[in-house]
Amino acid sequence: MLKECNHVAIIMDGNGRWAKAQGKPRTAGHLVGADNVRTIAIAASEMGIKYLTLYAFSTENWKRSQDEVSYIMKLPAIFFKKYMQEFLDRGYRMNIIGELDMLPKATQKVLNDAMEESKNNTGLNLNICMNYGSQREILLAARQYAKDVRDGKADLDLDEEGFEKYLMTKDFPPVDLLIRTSGEERISNYLLWQIAYAELEFVQESWPEFTPEVFHRCLEEYTKRDRRFGGVTNE
Ligand code: FPP
Repeated sequence: MLKECNHVAIIMDGNGRWAKAQGKPRTAGHLVGADNVRTIAIAASEMGIKYLTLYAFSTENWKRSQDEVSYIMKLPAIFFKKYMQEFLDRGYRMNIIGELDMLPKATQKVLNDAMEESKNNTGLNLNICMNYGSQREILLAARQYAKDVRDGKADLDLDEEGFEKYLMTKDFPPVDLLIRTSGEERISNYLLWQIAYAELEFVQESWPEFTPEVFHRCLEEYTKRDRRFGGVTNE
Protein backbone atom coordinates (compact mmCIF):
# COMPACT_ATOMS: atom_id res chain seq x y z
CA MET A 1 0.00 0.00 0.00
CA LEU A 2 1.49 3.33 -1.07
CA LYS A 3 1.64 6.28 1.32
CA GLU A 4 -0.58 9.18 0.30
CA CYS A 5 1.23 11.58 -1.96
CA ASN A 6 -0.82 14.60 -2.89
CA HIS A 7 1.56 16.61 -5.02
CA VAL A 8 4.34 15.33 -7.27
CA ALA A 9 6.62 17.67 -9.22
CA ILE A 10 8.88 16.44 -12.02
CA ILE A 11 11.88 17.96 -13.80
CA MET A 12 11.52 16.25 -17.18
CA ASP A 13 15.18 16.12 -18.15
CA GLY A 14 17.02 14.21 -20.88
CA ASN A 15 14.84 14.56 -24.00
CA GLY A 16 17.74 15.96 -26.01
CA ARG A 17 20.26 13.28 -25.00
CA TRP A 18 17.70 10.53 -25.55
CA ALA A 19 17.03 11.78 -29.09
CA LYS A 20 20.74 12.19 -29.91
CA ALA A 21 21.44 8.64 -28.73
CA GLN A 22 18.92 7.46 -31.33
CA GLY A 23 20.45 9.61 -34.06
CA LYS A 24 17.44 11.95 -34.05
CA PRO A 25 17.22 15.74 -33.63
CA ARG A 26 16.65 17.09 -30.11
CA THR A 27 13.15 18.21 -31.08
CA ALA A 28 12.17 14.57 -31.71
CA GLY A 29 12.94 13.97 -28.02
CA HIS A 30 10.64 16.80 -27.00
CA LEU A 31 7.80 15.36 -29.07
CA VAL A 32 8.16 11.92 -27.44
CA GLY A 33 8.52 13.76 -24.12
CA ALA A 34 5.21 15.54 -24.66
CA ASP A 35 3.49 12.21 -25.39
CA ASN A 36 4.96 10.91 -22.15
CA VAL A 37 3.29 13.78 -20.28
CA ARG A 38 -0.05 12.14 -21.14
CA THR A 39 1.15 8.67 -20.08
CA ILE A 40 2.48 9.90 -16.75
CA ALA A 41 -0.56 12.12 -16.07
CA ILE A 42 -2.81 9.06 -16.44
CA ALA A 43 -0.52 7.02 -14.18
CA ALA A 44 -0.51 9.83 -11.58
CA SER A 45 -4.26 10.08 -11.57
CA GLU A 46 -4.60 6.29 -11.23
CA MET A 47 -2.21 6.35 -8.24
CA GLY A 48 -4.42 8.92 -6.49
CA ILE A 49 -2.06 11.86 -6.95
CA LYS A 50 -4.07 15.11 -7.04
CA TYR A 51 -1.44 17.54 -8.35
CA LEU A 52 1.22 16.81 -10.97
CA THR A 53 3.50 19.77 -11.71
CA LEU A 54 5.82 19.44 -14.71
CA TYR A 55 8.73 21.65 -15.76
CA ALA A 56 8.31 22.14 -19.52
CA PHE A 57 10.22 25.40 -20.14
CA SER A 58 12.30 27.45 -17.74
CA THR A 59 13.18 31.14 -17.77
CA GLU A 60 16.74 29.97 -18.63
CA ASN A 61 15.67 27.81 -21.62
CA TRP A 62 15.48 30.87 -23.91
CA LYS A 63 19.28 30.45 -24.27
CA ARG A 64 18.74 27.35 -26.47
CA SER A 65 18.85 27.53 -30.26
CA GLN A 66 16.05 29.46 -31.90
CA ASP A 67 14.89 26.30 -33.68
CA GLU A 68 14.57 24.38 -30.44
CA VAL A 69 12.81 27.22 -28.59
CA SER A 70 10.32 27.76 -31.39
CA TYR A 71 9.62 24.01 -31.51
CA ILE A 72 8.90 23.88 -27.77
CA MET A 73 6.61 26.91 -28.18
CA LYS A 74 4.61 24.95 -30.78
CA LEU A 75 4.39 21.80 -28.67
CA PRO A 76 1.40 22.87 -26.52
CA ALA A 77 -0.73 23.22 -29.69
CA ILE A 78 0.31 19.74 -30.90
CA PHE A 79 -0.16 18.27 -27.44
CA PHE A 80 -3.59 19.71 -26.62
CA LYS A 81 -4.92 19.00 -30.12
CA LYS A 82 -4.08 15.33 -29.56
CA TYR A 83 -5.08 14.95 -25.94
CA MET A 84 -7.33 17.77 -24.69
CA GLN A 85 -10.59 15.92 -25.29
CA GLU A 86 -9.27 12.88 -23.45
CA PHE A 87 -8.13 15.06 -20.53
CA LEU A 88 -11.57 16.66 -20.34
CA ASP A 89 -13.23 13.22 -20.42
CA ARG A 90 -10.94 12.11 -17.61
CA GLY A 91 -11.82 15.22 -15.58
CA TYR A 92 -8.33 16.72 -15.49
CA ARG A 93 -7.85 20.39 -14.80
CA MET A 94 -5.04 22.14 -16.67
CA ASN A 95 -3.08 24.90 -14.95
CA ILE A 96 -0.21 26.73 -16.56
CA ILE A 97 2.40 28.27 -14.26
CA GLY A 98 4.86 30.94 -15.40
CA GLU A 99 5.09 34.32 -17.09
CA LEU A 100 2.83 33.58 -20.01
CA ASP A 101 2.80 37.09 -21.41
CA MET A 102 6.38 36.59 -22.65
CA LEU A 103 5.39 33.60 -24.83
CA PRO A 104 4.34 33.90 -28.49
CA LYS A 105 0.71 35.04 -28.75
CA ALA A 106 -0.43 31.78 -30.38
CA THR A 107 1.13 29.72 -27.56
CA GLN A 108 -0.54 31.93 -24.96
CA LYS A 109 -3.91 31.36 -26.61
CA VAL A 110 -3.53 27.56 -26.63
CA LEU A 111 -2.50 27.55 -22.97
CA ASN A 112 -5.22 29.96 -21.86
CA ASP A 113 -7.85 27.95 -23.78
CA ALA A 114 -6.71 24.74 -22.07
CA MET A 115 -7.08 26.37 -18.65
CA GLU A 116 -10.45 27.91 -19.51
CA GLU A 117 -11.93 24.69 -20.96
CA SER A 118 -10.93 22.60 -17.97
CA LYS A 119 -11.47 25.07 -15.14
CA ASN A 120 -14.55 23.32 -13.70
CA ASN A 121 -12.91 19.88 -13.59
CA THR A 122 -12.15 18.34 -10.21
CA GLY A 123 -9.84 15.44 -11.15
CA LEU A 124 -6.06 15.53 -11.48
CA ASN A 125 -4.55 19.03 -11.58
CA LEU A 126 -2.05 18.86 -14.42
CA ASN A 127 0.22 21.86 -13.90
CA ILE A 128 2.60 22.72 -16.71
CA CYS A 129 5.36 25.25 -16.02
CA MET A 130 6.13 27.37 -19.07
CA ASN A 131 8.61 30.24 -18.84
CA TYR A 132 8.84 29.53 -15.13
CA GLY A 133 11.75 30.28 -12.80
CA SER A 134 11.43 30.05 -9.05
CA GLN A 135 13.72 32.95 -8.10
CA ARG A 136 11.77 35.17 -10.45
CA GLU A 137 8.47 33.91 -8.99
CA ILE A 138 9.66 34.81 -5.46
CA LEU A 139 10.97 38.17 -6.66
CA LEU A 140 7.64 39.04 -8.34
CA ALA A 141 5.81 37.99 -5.16
CA ALA A 142 8.06 40.25 -3.05
CA ARG A 143 7.49 43.16 -5.42
CA GLN A 144 3.72 42.73 -5.29
CA TYR A 145 3.77 42.46 -1.51
CA ALA A 146 5.84 45.66 -1.26
CA LYS A 147 3.31 47.45 -3.48
CA ASP A 148 0.44 46.17 -1.34
CA VAL A 149 2.16 47.49 1.80
CA ARG A 150 2.75 50.83 0.11
CA ASP A 151 -0.90 51.01 -0.95
CA GLY A 152 -2.15 50.08 2.51
CA LYS A 153 -3.52 46.70 1.33
CA ALA A 154 -1.13 44.59 3.43
CA ASP A 155 0.65 45.06 6.73
CA LEU A 156 4.17 44.17 7.77
CA ASP A 157 3.51 41.07 9.87
CA LEU A 158 3.27 38.76 6.86
CA ASP A 159 3.81 35.06 7.65
CA GLU A 160 4.66 32.09 5.42
CA GLU A 161 1.02 31.33 4.66
CA GLY A 162 0.41 34.96 3.75
CA PHE A 163 3.45 35.04 1.46
CA GLU A 164 2.33 31.89 -0.36
CA LYS A 165 -0.73 33.78 -1.57
CA TYR A 166 1.63 35.89 -3.70
CA LEU A 167 3.22 32.88 -5.41
CA MET A 168 2.15 31.50 -8.81
CA THR A 169 1.31 28.23 -7.03
CA LYS A 170 -1.04 29.84 -4.51
CA ASP A 171 -3.85 27.40 -5.34
CA PHE A 172 -1.77 24.26 -4.80
CA PRO A 173 -0.54 22.38 -1.71
CA PRO A 174 3.20 21.99 -1.01
CA VAL A 175 5.15 19.46 -3.08
CA ASP A 176 5.45 16.03 -1.41
CA LEU A 177 7.81 14.43 -3.91
CA LEU A 178 10.16 15.98 -6.48
CA ILE A 179 11.55 13.69 -9.18
CA ARG A 180 14.27 14.58 -11.68
CA THR A 181 14.95 12.27 -14.59
CA SER A 182 18.17 11.62 -16.51
CA GLY A 183 20.71 11.35 -13.73
CA GLU A 184 21.36 15.02 -12.94
CA GLU A 185 21.07 15.92 -9.27
CA ARG A 186 20.11 19.59 -9.23
CA ILE A 187 16.98 21.64 -8.63
CA SER A 188 17.55 24.13 -11.49
CA ASN A 189 15.50 27.00 -10.08
CA TYR A 190 12.34 24.87 -9.75
CA LEU A 191 9.71 25.43 -7.02
CA LEU A 192 12.31 26.47 -4.41
CA TRP A 193 9.72 27.62 -1.86
CA GLN A 194 7.28 24.79 -2.55
CA ILE A 195 9.81 21.92 -2.08
CA ALA A 196 10.88 23.05 1.41
CA TYR A 197 9.91 19.64 2.90
CA ALA A 198 9.60 17.56 -0.27
CA GLU A 199 11.31 14.20 -0.67
CA LEU A 200 13.76 14.26 -3.59
CA GLU A 201 14.37 11.44 -6.05
CA PHE A 202 16.84 11.41 -8.93
CA VAL A 203 16.38 8.62 -11.45
CA GLN A 204 18.75 7.53 -14.23
CA GLU A 205 16.05 7.13 -16.89
CA SER A 206 15.61 10.05 -19.28
CA TRP A 207 12.13 11.61 -19.50
CA PRO A 208 11.13 9.60 -22.63
CA GLU A 209 12.16 6.42 -20.73
CA PHE A 210 10.28 7.39 -17.56
CA THR A 211 7.49 4.80 -17.71
CA PRO A 212 4.60 4.28 -15.28
CA GLU A 213 6.66 1.38 -13.83
CA VAL A 214 9.56 3.73 -13.02
CA PHE A 215 7.06 6.23 -11.60
CA HIS A 216 5.56 3.52 -9.42
CA ARG A 217 9.03 2.60 -8.16
CA CYS A 218 9.53 6.26 -7.16
CA LEU A 219 6.28 6.19 -5.17
CA GLU A 220 7.36 2.95 -3.46
CA GLU A 221 10.63 4.61 -2.48
CA TYR A 222 8.69 7.65 -1.23
CA THR A 223 6.50 5.34 0.89
CA LYS A 224 9.65 4.08 2.67
CA ARG A 225 10.83 7.56 3.59
CA ASP A 226 10.23 8.88 7.09
CA ARG A 227 8.94 12.42 6.67
CA ARG A 228 9.51 14.30 9.91
CA PHE A 229 9.07 17.92 8.76
CA GLY A 230 11.77 18.96 11.21
CA GLY A 231 10.22 17.03 14.13
CA VAL A 232 11.07 13.60 15.53
CA THR A 233 9.51 10.22 14.71
CA ASN A 234 6.96 8.90 17.22
CA GLU A 235 8.42 5.76 18.81
C1 FPP B 1 14.66 18.84 -20.77
O1 FPP B 1 15.38 17.96 -21.56
C2 FPP B 1 13.40 19.11 -21.38
C3 FPP B 1 12.93 20.33 -21.80
C4 FPP B 1 13.66 21.59 -21.61
C5 FPP B 1 11.64 20.44 -22.48
C6 FPP B 1 10.62 19.60 -21.83
C7 FPP B 1 9.41 19.63 -22.62
C8 FPP B 1 8.62 18.56 -22.75
C9 FPP B 1 8.87 17.24 -22.14
C10 FPP B 1 7.40 18.66 -23.51
C11 FPP B 1 6.51 19.69 -22.92
C12 FPP B 1 5.16 19.31 -23.00
C13 FPP B 1 4.16 20.14 -23.17
C14 FPP B 1 2.83 19.62 -23.01
C15 FPP B 1 4.32 21.55 -23.52
P1 FPP B 1 16.66 18.50 -22.26
O2 FPP B 1 16.30 18.95 -23.63
O3 FPP B 1 17.30 19.52 -21.38
O4 FPP B 1 17.52 17.21 -22.34
P2 FPP B 1 19.09 17.16 -22.34
O5 FPP B 1 19.51 17.46 -20.93
O6 FPP B 1 19.34 15.75 -22.72
O7 FPP B 1 19.60 18.15 -23.32
